[in-house]
Amino acid sequence: MSDWRNGEIKVYADADTLAQAAAGHFVAQAAEAIAARDRFVVALSGGATPRATYALLASWSYATRVDWLRVHILWGDERCVSPDHRNSNYRSVHQVLLSKIPIPTVNVHRIRGETEPSWAAMAYESELETLLGSDGRFDLVLLGMGDDGHTASLFPGTVALEEQTRWVVENYVEKLNAWRITLTLPIINAARQVTFLVSGTPKAEPLARIQAGEPLPAGLVRPTEGKLTWLVDQQANPE
Ligand code: 6PG
Repeated sequence: MSDWRNGEIKVYADADTLAQAAAGHFVAQAAEAIAARDRFVVALSGGATPRATYALLASWSYATRVDWLRVHILWGDERCVSPDHRNSNYRSVHQVLLSKIPIPTVNVHRIRGETEPSWAAMAYESELETLLGSDGRFDLVLLGMGDDGHTASLFPGTVALEEQTRWVVENYVEKLNAWRITLTLPIINAARQVTFLVSGTPKAEPLARIQAGEPLPAGLVRPTEGKLTWLVDQQANPE
């Protein structure tokens, strides 16, 4: 573990030990939130990196340590596709986790990527306001990071990065020629705990750029009062 001005960074030998650590982190954060507020409201990251963690959380040794009846699962972002599309972040999490745990359906808050992007963003923001209240504080936001330093669907040079008021926006990503729905920096930075899961050599360069102070999107995540943790494997370690 080494101190890092952009939060605390913990380095693990490989992707497997990173996934184990991330699953343990989730269990601990859930227990802490449920003990304090009788529920755990978590936004999951999309992408490939966290799938191993989600699969572990579905396994007996981890799943039995989470009070799923008091867990609310949301997403940090979603692609503008149907929930059964191969690129859907919801579908990915449903495959490896949601279909295997006793979480009440009403506790799974899917972003409706299949609807018109501005409507999907407004609808999700309304759902967040109902769930979180005016302070909009997630207990945990899990994030990944792309090799361009994006996080959630906050890509370099896109409009969503500038959003300072809304909690959820539609964001056109030119490099992908695609619309995305994403949480914004204000609501991410309001979280009690923000944790990045970063794995693999392609992430070492953006991590080093962030550590050097470059304002890549993932480097703009600085919780106002909450705790920031980077869980990375050796391949992604910038040092
Ligand atoms: C998404 C994620 C995105 C992801 C990064 C890293 O919808 O794709 O929200 O921000 O975390 O692109 O993805 P990998 O883990 O696949 O490298």
